[in-house]
Amino acid sequence: MKYTAQRGTRDILPSEIGVWHAIEKSARRTFELFDYKEIRTPIFEQTDLFSRSIGSSTDIVSKEMYTFLDRKGRSLTLRPEETAPVVRAAIEHGLIVKENVVKLYYLGPMFRYERPQAGRQRQFHQAGVEAFGSADPMLDVEVISLAGQLFDRLGLKELEIDVNSVGCAACRPGYIEKLKDYFKQNLNNMCDDCRKRFEANPLRILDCKEAVCQKYIEKAPSTGDSLCPECRDHFERVIKGLELSGIKYRVNHRLVRGLDYYTRTTFEVISRQLGAQNAVCGGGRYDTLVEELGGGPTPAIGFAIGLERLVEIVKNVLPSGEKGIELFVAALGDEAKKIAFQIVSKARKAGVSADLDYAGRGLKAQMKAADRAGAGNALIIGDNEIKNGRYLLKDMKTAAQKEVTETELIALFSLL
Ligand code: HAM
Repeated sequence: MKYTAQRGTRDILPSEIGVWHAIEKSARRTFELFDYKEIRTPIFEQTDLFSRSIGSSTDIVSKEMYTFLDRKGRSLTLRPEETAPVVRAAIEHGLIVKENVVKLYYLGPMFRYERPQAGRQRQFHQAGVEAFGSADPMLDVEVISLAGQLFDRLGLKELEIDVNSVGCAACRPGYIEKLKDYFKQNLNNMCDDCRKRFEANPLRILDCKEAVCQKYIEKAPSTGDSLCPECRDHFERVIKGLELSGIKYRVNHRLVRGLDYYTRTTFEVISRQLGAQNAVCGGGRYDTLVEELGGGPTPAIGFAIGLERLVEIVKNVLPSGEKGIELFVAALGDEAKKIAFQIVSKARKAGVSADLDYAGRGLKAQMKAADRAGAGNALIIGDNEIKNGRYLLKDMKTAAQKEVTETELIALFSLL
């Protein structure tokens, strides 16, 4: 094969698209129920937007970005995530209005140069939301319950929600110091990556999946013990709100997430049906990012769902969704083909999906084509049928046949 899809990218084929459509439809419907409005931003942005917001020592920025120079020598990057572009757009277009909560949602492809494996691609898709303008813990609860409601709508029951608070600019530095003091003693026994993380971004050590590091990570100081009174109060109120809303959750003090902009609440939705890459959704607060990127002080929170991972678990629950056409017209002879073409055109205009065979083949081949098209009905037109003005309509599921005139056919499918 001369050309193939690039490593870490995938074609989504017609046989799979039904599940994607179902997920996208449910996502839009759920986001809109919670009053989110769709925003679409460009696929590439100025590189600096991502390095500043996600953090230059994170894995995403330090090794996973698709960065290139354009013809004028400007550094651009294919978006590895959508929070920073949405913040950029919200500031640029004055969407953030004081004292209002502004709610935006998006669906689209993201790009990260990661080592491809199950659940991890270089081009993948996210559906996500961002809510700007309130630090109220009940907004955190609403955002988490929105994710929960979408998964419920898709019939998923086996999901787990982990929540944590990573504190704020006042209490996080103290926590990082505590972590460094703790890991310093064991660093020699830990993996190479963790030794690097220790220097650049010690919080990231908590995310390490290497077995050698696990026993040290398990006993590491907990974020929960280092929160300042304001962050502790905020987190307690989030937890109370989750209880009140009947949302099942688990506090996971190791949940620090891989992007630097988070403050206070972080959360992930995990599926046991996925392998090592088991997070279907990740999000949290980022109360200082809008201001860091040039806007006014604006607390904010959001999440993004990985659609490939969601498809993986939803496809066991939803039917494949590949839709067949409603009517296939098989025509034998030139005269019949003309009539077939007219009937198909009328059907389509009336909103009935229809097709015909252009190859001028025999009846058997045309019925095979009708089968392949997943047709609900086949209409057969030959010389005899034209003479009598009655065509043969075959129900492809039951194989029942009846003769119909064009008028009857039209009434049957309400073609007019
Ligand atoms: P994230 O945790 O980097 O957060 O990504 C969110 C979700 O995208 C993950 O839980 C996973 O399902 C999916 N995902 C990430 N990388 C890949 C990959 N290489 N292949 C397949 N799926 C992947 C964010 O992107 C934040 N912007 C979320 C957010 C929004 N936080 C606040 N607002």
